[in-house]
Order: sequence, then structure tokens, then C-alpha cells
Amino acid sequence: MTKRWAVALTALTVVAATAGCAKEGSGADNSATDGHVVHVVCGATEDWCAATTKKFTERTGVKADFVRLSSGEALARIKAGKSNAEFDVWYGGPADGYAAAGDEGLLEPYVSANASVIPAKYKDPQGVWTGVYVGALGFCSNTKLLAKKGLEAPDAWADLLDPKLSKDIGIAHPSTSGTSYTALWTQVQLAGGDETKALEYMRKLHPNVLQYTKSGAAPAQMVARGEVAVGVIFSHDCVATMEAGFPDLKVSFPAEGTGYETGGVALVKGAKNPVSAKKFIDWALTTEAQEIGPTVKAYQFPTNPDAKVSDKVVDLSSIKMVEYDAAAAGEAKSALNKRFDAEVAQAPKS
Ligand code: F6P
Repeated sequence: MTKRWAVALTALTVVAATAGCAKEGSGADNSATDGHVVHVVCGATEDWCAATTKKFTERTGVKADFVRLSSGEALARIKAGKSNAEFDVWYGGPADGYAAAGDEGLLEPYVSANASVIPAKYKDPQGVWTGVYVGALGFCSNTKLLAKKGLEAPDAWADLLDPKLSKDIGIAHPSTSGTSYTALWTQVQLAGGDETKALEYMRKLHPNVLQYTKSGAAPAQMVARGEVAVGVIFSHDCVATMEAGFPDLKVSFPAEGTGYETGGVALVKGAKNPVSAKKFIDWALTTEAQEIGPTVKAYQFPTNPDAKVSDKVVDLSSIKMVEYDAAAAGEAKSALNKRFDAEVAQAPKS
């Protein structure tokens, strides 16, 4: 064999091995084929996803792109790519979705060195996910509309059942939205763990719901435009909408207790760019990454204790919170959502 043929044969062997490896995408170590790019499925707001991926590229030189998907949709897309991963990293969206994905073997545990500063309550002990922000569920009201009905902003879950609010509430569907699943799991906690009672509450709420949206933050726009009087959303999404030019909105919290999210970041199993993905996760835990939110009107609480906290972030210690165990909520997610579909309302069609 001539030297030229030998070189060509070696090159072909490498290409074939690389192609096989990339195709496999089954959790094998793909680090040799890392393309110096990270594909992110992102559950935060579009603006935050864009600002974060841009800054990451500036900081590291690694290219980054994203698709914004609600929690349930992200989980379904990651599952669809189980044997040929579409994404490298999942960033943003409540941790119970990550816990559910971890239970299905869709995430690769990764404990970043930077996770050491993140409080234990904001990360999975096995490194399946690590928290990057915290948000509290609340009510977002159009005070002008409520005044016309002679109502104040609600400050109890029971207030939402008032017949005067018939078709005047906006909330997402828990199958697609992490926000709405947080609301559903909050009811489970308030009912002492009784899922049937929680669904009973959601059934009572149903006549007052105008529409179940796909994304959790969408009801903020409905409230701002006056389509509905109250939205059940994460409070930071209401604050952002007020800032966007709707000062008549008001945030309130239920006295019985409310749920909260720990927004996560995780490595997708079988990621084709695991080296870049880990770099992204490492960076997402830094103060620099966690201080981006307020620059794009995202007012979640940062999990890195050294990150500056905007004064627009709600003081979590001032709100009565329910016990929210992401692992338990994640384990129950699929079956509970199926019951919601069957017993309360079908998921919105895409
Ligand atoms: O808008 C941002 C946000 O509220 C995040 O804090 C949260 O993790 C995410 O949206 C949830 O989105 P969804 O309810 O659409 O899954």
C-alpha cells in the first residue's frame, strides 16, 4: 500500500468511527466529536435565552443556539431525541421537569465545580440538575377590571373560585407548562398530598378559566390586554409585564401558601457536544450569568449567593410558601398530568 493510500484509509476509518459515534448518541462519551457549539433547549423567556447564549459565546468563544420551549414540551422533545440527541443542555424551567426527565434516564448527571456555592436546596444531590434561579407562583391582576366587578386583587386560592370571576382567569395547562404544573402541585401540597382533592380544586376553578395556554407566562399578556382579570403565573412574569407598559397590573400571593420553582440547568444524555455543554453549565452558575436576568426584565431570584439581586425581585421570605420537593413533584408529574387531561381539561393542541 502506498503512503497516500494508507493516509486516505486512516482518514476514512476516523470519519466512519466519528459518524458512528455521533449517530449512536446514546450517552456514550462524545467528547472527541464536540463541535465547539452548544444547542440549548431553553425554558426561560426568549429575551433571557437570547441574552444568555450570546454572553456565553462572548465569554467562551463557544457557539450557542437555543429553542424556547415550555417545560412539558421541552421534556417531550428531549425524549423524542433519546437515541439521537437534538440538544446538549436544558436551561431554565422548573426543576420538577428535570427530575421527571432524570427518572426517565434522559439527563446525564453532572456536578459542576461551580455548583459548590449553590445552596443544597437548589440542586439535585446526584447532579441531575442544578438550580440557576428561583421564582414564586402568584396572582397577576388587572386592577381596573377587578374594580369594575367590585373585587380586590385575590389573596387566597379560594378567591379564584368566586363566580364573579367566571371566564376571567388565565392559567396555562400543566401538561405543557411548568408554571401550571407548579400550581397543580401546590394544590397537592395544600391538600396534604391528596391528588384527588387537588384535582377537585382545579375542577372547581375550571368554569372561571377562559383558556389554558401552552406557556406559563402567556396569561400575563391576557391580563394586560384585559382579556381576563387574573392570571395564575410566576410573579416575576407579572412584574416584567408591568414594566413593559401596564402599570395597572398588581401582584398578590395566596395566604394559604404558594408554590415556587427552582429553574434548572442540566446536561442532556447523549449530548453530541458534551464538553461545550459542561462549559455552558459551569458558566450558568456564575454571578455573571445570573446577573443577566434583570437586564432583560427577568426578575427571578439568583441561586448563586454572590450574584446581585435586583430590587424588583420579590423577597421570598415575605411570602408563605408550601413545601415544594422537586423530586416528588417530578415523580408524580406524568400520571398527575394525565389525570388533569382526563378529569379537568385536555392539553391545548399545537
Ligand atoms: O418566563 C419565565 C418563566 O416564568 C420561568 O421562570 C419559568 O421557569 C418558565 O417561565 C416556565 O415556563 P412554562 O410555564 O411555559 O413551562
